[in-house]
Amino acid sequence: MSEELTVTGSNREEKYRSLLPQVRALAAGEPDAVARLANICAALKYSMGYFWVGFYLVRGEELVLGPFQGPVACTRIARGRGVCGRCWESGETLLVEDVRLFPGHIACNSASRSEIVVPLRDREGRVAGVLDVDQDAVGAFDAIDRKYLVEVAAIAMYEGEGIEP
Ligand code: SME
Repeated sequence: MSEELTVTGSNREEKYRSLLPQVRALAAGEPDAVARLANICAALKYSMGYFWVGFYLVRGEELVLGPFQGPVACTRIARGRGVCGRCWESGETLLVEDVRLFPGHIACNSASRSEIVVPLRDREGRVAGVLDVDQDAVGAFDAIDRKYLVEVAAIAMYEGEGIEP
């Protein structure tokens, strides 16, 4: 496919619906995780206007920063720490309306005010990493983002093949 995205829609749900098939096409057939995840970050950042979009990957006892788009970020997060580490530990999507009210939130950038973190699962159902999306406004995410970003996380995992290099 062409490496150019055309995202239409006047609200977030319409934009996601327009974007998702294009993200799926971008990732399909690309077995290299870095290539796949990098393009997914760019697609989300530039079509949805998020402040920061990126992946943290499980490496031993830590999450390590993977492909992302946005300002520089923390490189390592321990299991159970911050929103990302809690998402890894619980295996649940975490939607944080106001990061200042989330105990233990890790402020990689003070401009980030709300956040959603979705687990990436391998074929065995283990959490292999997380997709983290941040916005510079409180309350930027809701059930619509949850629904579509869960789909993006599945696409990122390339139908469960995994994200190992
Ligand atoms: N805020 C995250 C850390 C990652 S940055 O937002 C990019 C957390 O609390 O886990």
